[in-house]
Amino acid sequence: MCGIIGIVDKKNCINDLISSLSRLEYRGYDSAGIATLNKNKFVLNKSKGKLSNLRLKIKQKKIMGNIGIGHTRWATHGKPSNDNAHPFLKKNCAIVHNGIIENYSDIKKSLANHKTNYQSSTDTEVVAELMNYLIEEGASPLESMKEITSRIEGNYALVFLVKSSNNLYFSRKGSPLVVGISKTFKCVASDTLALPNKVDNIIYLEEGDIGEIGLDRANIFDRSFNLKENQIHKHSSMQEHTTKRNFKHFMIKEIHYQSKSIDDTLLNFAKKNDEKIYLPQFKFDTKKIDNLSLVACGTAFHACMVSKYWFEEISKINTMVEIASEYRYRENSINKKTLGILVSQSGETMDTIKCLEKMKKQKIHTASIVNVLGSSLSRNSDYIFPTIAGPEIGVASTKAFTAQLTVLALLSLHIAQKKSVIDNKLKKITNEMFKISKNVNSIMKDKKIYMEIAKDLLDSKSIFYVGRGTMYPLALEGALKLKEITYKHCEGYAAGELKHGPLALIEDSVPVIVLAPFDKYFKKTMSNIQEIKARGGEIILITDSEGSKNSENLADKLICLPKSNFITAPIIYSIPVQLIAYYLATLLGTDVDQPRNLAKSVTVE
Ligand code: AGP
Repeated sequence: MCGIIGIVDKKNCINDLISSLSRLEYRGYDSAGIATLNKNKFVLNKSKGKLSNLRLKIKQKKIMGNIGIGHTRWATHGKPSNDNAHPFLKKNCAIVHNGIIENYSDIKKSLANHKTNYQSSTDTEVVAELMNYLIEEGASPLESMKEITSRIEGNYALVFLVKSSNNLYFSRKGSPLVVGISKTFKCVASDTLALPNKVDNIIYLEEGDIGEIGLDRANIFDRSFNLKENQIHKHSSMQEHTTKRNFKHFMIKEIHYQSKSIDDTLLNFAKKNDEKIYLPQFKFDTKKIDNLSLVACGTAFHACMVSKYWFEEISKINTMVEIASEYRYRENSINKKTLGILVSQSGETMDTIKCLEKMKKQKIHTASIVNVLGSSLSRNSDYIFPTIAGPEIGVASTKAFTAQLTVLALLSLHIAQKKSVIDNKLKKITNEMFKISKNVNSIMKDKKIYMEIAKDLLDSKSIFYVGRGTMYPLALEGALKLKEITYKHCEGYAAGELKHGPLALIEDSVPVIVLAPFDKYFKKTMSNIQEIKARGGEIILITDSEGSKNSENLADKLICLPKSNFITAPIIYSIPVQLIAYYLATLLGTDVDQPRNLAKSVTVE
């Protein structure tokens, strides 16, 4: 997928253009370019290959300009080359584009009687010629945008730089665009990761929106060219992630941040009431992939275990989940029709990196889900699906975990759509996902109950988490959270597995935290609760309103969460699991953010 950035600044925008393009490299590209307008003169630089080639090219030149556009191109029409790289420059305008203009030949024919000067074989350049012609004919940039968006067909995110104008003009249909606003500059980009760090607020464009930004304006119009007010979202700067503000620990701050990081990740790759998932596209035919092999460590491994249920039940694809430190040494044969997916917050976990190397030797496609762009994993994978959680400081992973789940859920929908196995359910499921942040906020409003549970667990020598389906890996994650920050022994188990041995450990007042939304496993889990109660175990049941009505008063303590479904439950049920561990750790006075013996990123083997 191509990457787009446009900036209007009080100062020279070149460095920000280039650093934004470097944050767009994860989308995959084969050429890059920038165009600026300085003293009403266009300056164009573009080069085939990596961004470093473009950097080298402009290094010797002192390019000035307070307004400019940049692009990383993933070739669709026309091979990777200098000529086919964006931006395209005409006498009156420069353009960058993400998407495909389906009727570009008709538009080219309609311009046949006018002076044109094609340098490439791309669909985008035809739109540049159309814009140039309209401006030449005396139309204003906005009038030209209106005419262009009424004539072109296909999917597009377009950004124009126009001679004699201090504004950028843009429109989206089927390819995302976001506007970034700060006190001193404005920008428009294909995704939030490209936005310069200093952006204060973000506006996501909606289908068919047309917009203009300048130092004195940020206007969005609908298809009928009526001014509209899109929702404004706060953009967290790097500094906001790396200071505790008024929170006692980074961990509780990052737990609180999850409604935003889940939303930011969702909004970057999906839209309400939209049939599409805007993740980077695979260059291979997804239908030809028969297997997924997910590899990770620790919490990231638990995210992969949750996603196994989604990939198998929604994407209908056989999914293996492996612990990296085991997978890397195992002499496994691999089916060439496998996609390797590596999940890592830091992107620097040595065991996971070694698994990527192994997969590359086995010549299978590889994709990484990382929270740190530019990390080793992201630099060396064929595809990158970033989480938008911001830097995670607390050693115990929280916001990165729920962001990993969000990306994995979107990926399962994306693959299901590519394999045509999802019918017309994608829009409904995505819309349900957009309710998660509200549910997380409602859980965070009533933290007292988790503090009480923490008090109840204070003297326990051993604690159990159990669950079925996606709640089983969540039980493992709950146990890990407790272990790593309270230093108490805790076991996570598949609820159906207790009777095969661990039940021997259950005796009077051993606490067992049961994760059980009212789903197809609920009744079975209730009989597991009976088994535990019969041995004197103490039940802390985390369920929803239906579940509490049907729990036959078996719970000694009951937490009622908002209603959830197969996709949203693991993300929503992560919050109580994190809060219980956090409050117990604070009662015990452990070093919550830097627990003993642990590191944030395990870069050793
Ligand atoms: C999570 O709470 C732990 N700190 C740890 O298990 C972590 O998830 C694991 O080390 C993997 O790290 P990564 O996601 O950076 O690869």
